[in-house]
Amino acid sequence: MTYFLIGDSITLTLFVILIFAFTYYIYNLLTNNIFRRIGIPGPTPIPFLGEIFNVIRKGLYKNDMDLVKKYGKIVGIYEGTSSIILLSDPDLLRNVLIKDSYAFINRRSAEGLIGPLEHGLLSLKDDHWKNARAIVSPTFSTAKLKAMYSLMDQTSDMFNDRLLEYADKQEIFNIKEISQHFALDTIGSCLFGIETNSLQNENATLVKHLKGIFTLSLANLIIIVYFISPRLARYLYTKGYSILPKNTMDYLTELLNQILNRRRQHLERRNDFIQIMVDHEEQVKHDEQQTGTLTKTLNDKEILGQALVFLLAGYETTSTLMSFFFYVMATEPEIQEKVYQEIQQEIGDNEIKPDNINQLHYLDMVINETLRMYPPVIRFDRVASNDYRLGDYQILKGFIISVPVYPIHHDPIVWPDPEKFIPERFSSTEKAKRHPMSFLAFGDGPRNCIGMRFALLEAKIAIVKALRVVEIQCCEKTEIPIKLNKLKVLVPKQGIWLRAVRRSQ
Ligand code: HEM
Repeated sequence: MTYFLIGDSITLTLFVILIFAFTYYIYNLLTNNIFRRIGIPGPTPIPFLGEIFNVIRKGLYKNDMDLVKKYGKIVGIYEGTSSIILLSDPDLLRNVLIKDSYAFINRRSAEGLIGPLEHGLLSLKDDHWKNARAIVSPTFSTAKLKAMYSLMDQTSDMFNDRLLEYADKQEIFNIKEISQHFALDTIGSCLFGIETNSLQNENATLVKHLKGIFTLSLANLIIIVYFISPRLARYLYTKGYSILPKNTMDYLTELLNQILNRRRQHLERRNDFIQIMVDHEEQVKHDEQQTGTLTKTLNDKEILGQALVFLLAGYETTSTLMSFFFYVMATEPEIQEKVYQEIQQEIGDNEIKPDNINQLHYLDMVINETLRMYPPVIRFDRVASNDYRLGDYQILKGFIISVPVYPIHHDPIVWPDPEKFIPERFSSTEKAKRHPMSFLAFGDGPRNCIGMRFALLEAKIAIVKALRVVEIQCCEKTEIPIKLNKLKVLVPKQGIWLRAVRRSQ
């Protein structure tokens, strides 16, 4: 009996302490809301969660649309306990991303939570980032992309074969899945010299691992924990609960180490990222011996970090672009016909080369309009490295500026009738009339997407090859309008189901 009474009083005391702590937290939040003090408008945060509750409920892109509509082009929000400025004012964005980029050189990164990815370009900071970006950039130069062209040609042939197979069997297919396999095979082949062959073997181990990364619900849970308490998320990481599954990271690390070692031992040579890193290492060693000058190279961890980032950053984004592109082809047959006619006029049945791909201006406009309507990355961010004057507001060092790409791309003032697909918005005359910060599918400034030209080239080769031989059509499972998933990357909820019909010769 005494035991229960003591037990009850402890429970009661704990309960009272909790109520006090909670009330104090809310009081603090309401009175100490940093944005209120600075004068930046925004919603009253839900304790501990901030906007996370609304994001889970509505989806990030939808919630961003609502916030910008209600509060304007500078909105102060909380994501868990982190304070974030959602910035969509084009002049201020130009300052943050380009003019004053020295003060916003870093992104927010989940240190202590992402293992080898911490050494990748997406997360690196300050001079570590500058150094790595300078060493990695030649991988995506015009000359290197041209050299990778024949490899892209091979993977797009496989993509094409898959579409023809479906056409001949009169089967419908999920274009998202085929595009994922294509993107993976192309990155594997062009950047690491591995034949993943996922277009032919969907159950290849690498494919299974990568699919796991993008579908894991546990990862989403850890991300939510990270927003509420980065410390708790880091503690969970040490206990094996990670945003990225440990077995996948171990598998990828082992695979890439094997490739690196083979190249160092000169057992094979290819025109790819790993080769550029190994050649750079050897060149630096040689220069050091000749001149005694010390130049920085990337160590194994850093090379691995970049390789993993390329895989993760290039796989989902490029396949998202391609699947929405084919969705548009099916739902807007007149646009498909115009793209096809342009391909016939400019290339016909001739061999496809990077130079004649560049002549396809209408295709380029359609791809840009696809990226406007369905931007694969709907948010990216920068962290202020100093106190900074952001328009009328004085913000502090450490503030996070987050760029809500979706509302920027759907702003009816800049893009009249924003839900309508109009490729002509990207004609050179229309483009010249717009603020350059109105279209940010690949970000901007020194930290923009390093893989942009790679992604556009691979997508265009595959698209041109495909549309020469098949016509894309809607099928009974095509969702119109399409329902989108709620994550940071814009993906269709149930896949995109289409049909391909062989064109008559
Ligand atoms: C349609 C395809 C793609 C889209 C829409 C896309 C979009 C983006 C965006 C929005 C960013 C952030 C830019 C910023 O902060 O200003 C980014 C960064 C990045 N992307 Fe992409 N990306 C795509 C394909 C690729 C590919 C194929 C690769 C690699 C092969 C890649 C590698 C990267 C890397 C490494 C960064 C970080 C750059 C840095 O911090 O220096 N991306 N991407």
